[in-house]
Amino acid sequence: MEFNRRNFIRSASVLAALSLSEIQSLSARQMIKTDGKTVAEDDEAYWQNVRQMFPLTKDWTYLNNGTFGPSPYPVIEAVKNSMLDADQLGNYGSYEATMPKIAKFVGANDDEIALTHNVTEGINIACWGVPLKKGDEVIVTTHEHVGNAAPWMNRMKVHGIVLKKYTPASTAAETLNRIAALINKNTRAIATPHIPCTQGQVLPIKDICKLAKDKGLFALVDGAHGAGMMHLDLHDMGCDTYASCCHKWMLGPKGTGFLYVRKEFQDTLQAFYSGGGTADDKWDIMTNPVSIGGYAQSAHRYFGGTQANGLYAGVNASIDFIETIGLTNIHNRIKSLGKYTQNRLLEFGDKIELLTPTEDISRCAVNGFKIKDVDYKKFYDTCAENKIRIRMVPENGINCLRVSTHIYNNTGEVDKLIDLIKKSIS
Ligand SMILES: Cc1ncc(COP(=O)(O)O)c(C=O)c1O
Repeated sequence: MEFNRRNFIRSASVLAALSLSEIQSLSARQMIKTDGKTVAEDDEAYWQNVRQMFPLTKDWTYLNNGTFGPSPYPVIEAVKNSMLDADQLGNYGSYEATMPKIAKFVGANDDEIALTHNVTEGINIACWGVPLKKGDEVIVTTHEHVGNAAPWMNRMKVHGIVLKKYTPASTAAETLNRIAALINKNTRAIATPHIPCTQGQVLPIKDICKLAKDKGLFALVDGAHGAGMMHLDLHDMGCDTYASCCHKWMLGPKGTGFLYVRKEFQDTLQAFYSGGGTADDKWDIMTNPVSIGGYAQSAHRYFGGTQANGLYAGVNASIDFIETIGLTNIHNRIKSLGKYTQNRLLEFGDKIELLTPTEDISRCAVNGFKIKDVDYKKFYDTCAENKIRIRMVPENGINCLRVSTHIYNNTGEVDKLIDLIKKSIS
């Protein structure tokens, strides 16, 4: 809804039902429009208006966008309105508009996007569909989230594939060397995160995909943190698949995601799940013999059945919200908050071990760190007691703490965390 004086009065009864912060967000909505102009990373007045668009409580400091991104009011309204529309009028509604919208957002074609519920689902479609046999090797990292570890370990158990692991290095060049050193005649795929969940390092994904292609390997990316954190051009990236979600950096409804499958790869990546939407119109159970037909001529072959139309209306609204501010403005702001966090952590000298590289191309909005002589679980509890949400990283024995900041955050919130670290080590 556009906010102007006339519809403000007309909507008085609707407004009566809204909280003060929701009303503030309606007026803030006009103030966050940039009309394509650049907003400075440190224009705190502008970013404070953006903050008002979120129902996040002021009692807590939320520094955990890497787990999920809180949605702004327009997203929540879109979900609510779409559900009301269906439930009042009996409209089934439609999710169809979401695929082209996501496609445009990530530099793909409309027929290359499958809708999923989360990253894990997209990774499973890619992992189980890619042709591999016993003894074939797949390269992963020692920094996997369970969502990109469990499917491959399961395939190892069921089909006898072999997993080879690399640890991301502090520079992009060294990371590439480590991956290249693992490739041999049995290697079939590189199944790497774009940005690991552990310390948020931005891996040189375009170079990794190029390496995969040069060696004739499949390039299958866990893109949990890519969409919404930075501009994506998946064609240019050169991956075969990219599994992401709308519920982290895109700030969309929880339980929404997508899988990009490169058009030319769709006949190689076997679809195992079928139902409404997955087949072409030649499937016919009434013919004798039954006509098998083929798959949908798009990534729709990978998902089917009834969809959560209300949630996809929310995804559409989240892309609109991001575009109202501008993805470049968002990226610059969150990268600068990430840098601010790094700088403040580095002030502690050898009392803090920063696990995220400081190299410009290898960092963005997430930082992982350890506090010398302080148990990470204990500090996590201290944060919770002081109403600061961060994430513990027990994955793969890394045992660190993770801070992730989005556009609703500010440097003052990072300072609160820094003050708590100071108290913990003094
Ligand atoms: C790198 C990475 N991969 C996969 C996942 C799994 O995501 P989802 O819960 O959407 O399946 C996450 C979630 O935090 C993640 O950070």
